[in-house]
Amino acid sequence: MCILKGKEIVIGVTGGIAICKSPELLREMVKCGAKVQVVMTKHAQEFITPLTFQTLSGNLVITQLFHLLPESKISHVALAERADMIVIAPTTANILGKIANGIGDDMLSTLVMAAKCPVLLAPAMNYRMWANPAVQRNVKHLKQDGYHLIEPGFGDLACGEEGKGRMAEVEEILEEMEEVLTGKDLQGERILITAGPTQEPLDPVRFISNRSSGKMGYALAHVAQKRGAEVILISGPTSLIPPRKVKFIKVGTALEMREATLREFQEATVVIKSAAVADYRPTVKEERKLKKSDSSITLALEKNPDILEELGKNKGSRILIGFAAETERLIKNAQDKLKAKNLDLIIANDVSQENSGFSSDTNQVKIIDQEGTIEDLPLLPKGEVAELILNRLKEMRKRKG
Ligand SMILES: Cc1cc2nc3c(=O)[nH]c(=O)nc-3n(C[C@H](O)[C@H](O)[C@H](O)COP(=O)(O)O)c2cc1C
Repeated sequence: MCILKGKEIVIGVTGGIAICKSPELLREMVKCGAKVQVVMTKHAQEFITPLTFQTLSGNLVITQLFHLLPESKISHVALAERADMIVIAPTTANILGKIANGIGDDMLSTLVMAAKCPVLLAPAMNYRMWANPAVQRNVKHLKQDGYHLIEPGFGDLACGEEGKGRMAEVEEILEEMEEVLTGKDLQGERILITAGPTQEPLDPVRFISNRSSGKMGYALAHVAQKRGAEVILISGPTSLIPPRKVKFIKVGTALEMREATLREFQEATVVIKSAAVADYRPTVKEERKLKKSDSSITLALEKNPDILEELGKNKGSRILIGFAAETERLIKNAQDKLKAKNLDLIIANDVSQENSGFSSDTNQVKIIDQEGTIEDLPLLPKGEVAELILNRLKEMRKRKG
């Protein structure tokens, strides 16, 4: 479920060329169920008319501080009190300077000054403007004052030049908003998450692998990071984009997964092993591509090390969570694995079911603990499953200290 649902969000829009991304940002927020009020500066209206934002938000756009509005509820103070969050996208160098220096000479700058909610700034400007010492000084002060700021990226700028100054993409701004609005109940945890399949090469072009997409592990990494944990994501080959702000380590084989996991394990307070690590690898990796012949061939496989078992033996005070992907005797197999691997929690996953397990965006799992309690969850999006697993982690941490 999107955290923006039912939230009152103010989008401040200022006079920069990146304003072309603001209607899309607004649409995405409305899609999430947020109530959005747009406030435009005078210069923003040189680029886009308020009509666009009014149509997309379904609300009158506020453009002036001294405007007789039919409703007193949208004065700068009332709006500042009601809003759950203010997002300024794009944020010009000009409004950065005004906010950093306590200037309130229009509706947006005055509103920000009166706000008690979080304010997120998404700067966008020419790279020389961004590098300007006054702008950098303002950025530093704003961060010290508790403003949230999503750094501009490198790339082609609208002015035809290239450099740092490009406004963050809409998805990044939405993610940052989610992060700002989410409670940081996992702060202090350093969570190591493994995800995806491993690929065990037969020759330079072929490998043995499995159907894991990595979606569950990536969802866990995303949610854990949003909830304030420091996250290390070790992933086998997937087509997914790693969540921002996590330490991302890409591996190929089970042996590489083991090496990276054991290294990162040292500093971790929690380990969640959702990767589908291959149990076996070809005994020989051919240097050259195997040629087709008329006869059958037999593959010799050797056992890969059991990473989870190794972690279980050395877990110390860490919390260890594993996954069991099964096609039969789900609970029995999962409970056996929980015991054998010294886990605190196991997430049992019947991968033979439709819409559940590998590749799917949803998952239906049972969370089983050491006391034998089985929490049977309904079919849910993997993001929600991740939230519930992390809630259990939180409970365990409270008990264990
Ligand atoms: C075509 C054009 C593009 C501009 N793009 C930007 C920009 O991307 N970032 C920025 O900080 N200022 C940009 N400016 C300058 C701002 O519009 C100017 O500083 C203005 O005073 C900002 O007012 P506001 O912050 O109240 O909207 C641009 C100006 C023009 C004419």
